[in-house]
Amino acid sequence: MDGVTPFSRPALPAEVAQLVARHRDGGPLARPFYADSTVFQADLQRILYRHWIFVGYSFEVAKPGDFLTWKIGDAQVLVVRGRDGVIRAFHNVCRHRGSILCREEHGNGHRVVCPYHRWTYELDGALVLDSKKEFGVDRSELGLKPIALEDAAGLLFISLADDPPDFSEALTTIRRKMAPHAIPRAKIAHKVDYVVEANWKIVFENNRECYHCPSNHKEYNTAAYDVQRDMAMLDPTQQPAMDAIVSRANARFRSLGLDEGDATSTMTGSAFRCHRTPCIEGSVTQSMDGKPLSQRLMGDIKEWDSGTLRTTLFPNFWQHTNCDYAAAARLTPLGPDRTLVRGYWLVDGDAVEGKDYTLDRLLPIWDVTNLQDWRICADQQAGITSPGYEPGPYSLIRERNVAHFIDWYLGELRG
Ligand code: FES
Ligand SMILES: [Fe+2]
Repeated sequence: MDGVTPFSRPALPAEVAQLVARHRDGGPLARPFYADSTVFQADLQRILYRHWIFVGYSFEVAKPGDFLTWKIGDAQVLVVRGRDGVIRAFHNVCRHRGSILCREEHGNGHRVVCPYHRWTYELDGALVLDSKKEFGVDRSELGLKPIALEDAAGLLFISLADDPPDFSEALTTIRRKMAPHAIPRAKIAHKVDYVVEANWKIVFENNRECYHCPSNHKEYNTAAYDVQRDMAMLDPTQQPAMDAIVSRANARFRSLGLDEGDATSTMTGSAFRCHRTPCIEGSVTQSMDGKPLSQRLMGDIKEWDSGTLRTTLFPNFWQHTNCDYAAAARLTPLGPDRTLVRGYWLVDGDAVEGKDYTLDRLLPIWDVTNLQDWRICADQQAGITSPGYEPGPYSLIRERNVAHFIDWYLGELRG
């Protein structure tokens, strides 16, 4: 393994390569992809340690010295804002004997101090100690190991890879379309950590279709037009009505100086989408009664109903950004059959709880929907790990985006 780190894309194990070669197009993956620890390690090394993944928001590290930590796979990540205002990411690992540096998930400090022997690092990762005399190594060789980080209009993405893949198209698109929502001036009204008893791909597959919505999401179906969109795809006679909704919504977006969108849920790029979709007719946001969930518009949005800016990035992030609030999810795969999903609810940074919004009103639409999704994901995981499982076919209409996700995933494994 000389010279091969988990972050330099080790070769795919032969058994995983055989599974990939045997995959039958047009349906879900075979059982081992959702249950086998060798595949899970391959997922980490070829996808989660390589691709750009969402770590948090810039406002979570608003001031110099603010930091956040995250563990993804075996990787310990530290994101910290320097005295110069620049947000950087490092491996949260001491260059002496490898202790974790920051134990807390959030905090603020003048410097980064290792709890073991108190080696101390500047916020830009430089070792303070003059290490030459006692340790025989110049301190310039003992700075914290950097991790690539990009700030996309307040959304922080990192890549653990030694050679991160090109992220420019996603960055440009997200920066332009997200800018009016001023995420750097937002705040987290609430967050929930859900442990989902399912493989991370099952969680993402579930996100990529609304075929399951009519039978599972009574509440979400009153808040989003997705089911209507799917029906129009199935029944061409409904398409003109859908086209009219999209055209009215686009006229509105133009009048607000926002990018137009379309009615589909297709990926804008191979691994991401960021496009504005209509609210359900008569609604100003994604809510069960169509009314705002926060009385304060977010960022630079000047009027109610900016549609919903849907942002999705394989393999670990999605966000629905409305005029008054945003709901997001960050996936942290924990093992072949468990995924930690952090649910975020964002509101404008100046919104006041109890005055502009209440959690009683803000949370249910997505908390209820999330819990419904996690239940069906766990049911699918249980069925897949049963000996009776055999992959079935995807809908050629309503599960095209799931097929796209699987194609992308297998392509990444193949390299
Ligand atoms: S391990 Fe960090 S100072 Fe020794
Ligand atoms: Fe769902």
